[in-house]
Amino acid sequence: MAYAAHNVPRYTSYPTAPHFSEAVGAKQYGSWLDSVAPEATISLYLHIPFCRSICHYCGCHTKAALRDQPVTEYAARLARELDIVLRHIGPGRRLVHLHWGGGTPNILPEGEFLELVDRIHDGFALSERLEHAIELDPRTVTPRLAALLVQAGITRVNLGVQDFNPEVQLAIGRWQPYGQVVEAVSHLRAAGIDRIGFDLMYGLPHQGEREIVLNAARAAGLWPQRLAVFGYAHVPWMKKHQRRIDAAALPGAVERVRQAETIGRTLLGAGYRRIGLDHFALPGDDLAAAADNGRLRRNFQGYTADPADILVGIGASAISRLPQGYVQNAVDLGGWGRKIGSGQLPTARGRGLSPEDRLRAEIIEGLMCQFETDLEGACRRHGLPRESLDDAEKALAPLVRDGLARSTGGKLRIPEAARPFARVVAAAFDGYLAPAADRHSAAV
Ligand SMILES: C[S@@+](CC[C@H](N)C(=O)[O-])C[C@H]1O[C@@H](n2cnc3c(N)ncnc32)[C@H](O)[C@@H]1O
Ligand code: SF4
Repeated sequence: MAYAAHNVPRYTSYPTAPHFSEAVGAKQYGSWLDSVAPEATISLYLHIPFCRSICHYCGCHTKAALRDQPVTEYAARLARELDIVLRHIGPGRRLVHLHWGGGTPNILPEGEFLELVDRIHDGFALSERLEHAIELDPRTVTPRLAALLVQAGITRVNLGVQDFNPEVQLAIGRWQPYGQVVEAVSHLRAAGIDRIGFDLMYGLPHQGEREIVLNAARAAGLWPQRLAVFGYAHVPWMKKHQRRIDAAALPGAVERVRQAETIGRTLLGAGYRRIGLDHFALPGDDLAAAADNGRLRRNFQGYTADPADILVGIGASAISRLPQGYVQNAVDLGGWGRKIGSGQLPTARGRGLSPEDRLRAEIIEGLMCQFETDLEGACRRHGLPRESLDDAEKALAPLVRDGLARSTGGKLRIPEAARPFARVVAAAFDGYLAPAADRHSAAV
């Protein structure tokens, strides 16, 4: 259990974002985009960093916008950023995945949203199997919004449900009665959108065992296709508004492990399958199929079945992944907007991948998605000697001794019971971890 209190990254990328540097900027990203292979498939992520109000727990890159004007201006800049990217990669690239995240993307006024969708249609060749997903705040879902989403071609919706308990909702600054979520789901289904996912959270103030069971059972009772279950990351040194959360009311590390287990048991009992570390899906869902045939992947949204070769992130703070490495756009709206205004890519930092980074990235993704990895095979595939993982072997030794991982014939496996600690095992392969270790959230 001591491992539950270890502070380790969530490994939505490797190297992780704190290790991106200004050495990689717009020029580098531009040249990477210029060299995108013609047959490469693209995933486009659009970040909308605005919400009507900020929930106390929120760890996302977002700001409160009470009026539409800043959002409208933002949408115009997004369109320009898209044009700049298209100038580099050229028009007509095959788009297989399109995701609107935030923030609360449906804060975009209808006209601006549809205009952006049109622009994407003009700039890319949309795959007939395109997954077109959006994150929504259930408090904002109306029949009109549901109809708009259908008009825009949305095929999947993710709702931030978090917790149904009124005491918890008050403590986290998010009043959202159960009935409101029920209505949101029924509006979406009535409009024909039945691929619905829920985000649930544990580790929140005042959550006890009883609340946790009730929460998961009520969520499952609405039959979302997927659920993502997030442990609250309390990082008030980075997110000042989290100081409004009473740290004394937060469950401890052992309690968090129990909560994660309880939610898992409840959802499995309701017919869901566990996907990776913290996602659940109905057996027929794409995520379940991806897990079955080893195609499950990890990206900045968590677990995904997104098969694209390249991820292009648009908007302030958005991250892109290309074969050469990662880049992140300027996080501050002013800096991001000024770059776009002058016709440049708004890249603030990034990380080119060394052969060793690629090796470690493959191992970490394998551990996070399949809970196993073939160390010998990975070293061979990347043309690197096994000794390049000597530091990791050393870091693994105590984990193997404590039953968190098993090593046989060059393969490493995380046993079922130790899966909640997959991030700790993955961290053994993280060549950058040491200096920033205390700045990450708890392992579970
Ligand atoms: C962009 S929001 C979801 C869409 C919409 N804004 C909403 O809140 O309904 C992304 C999700 O991240 C999760 N999240 C936000 N802050 C978090 C934190 N500090 N720790 C863990 N998960 C968090 C929540 O589950 C949230 O639903
Ligand atoms: S949880 Fe969602 S609605 Fe709340 S502040 Fe974060 S992004 Fe906005």
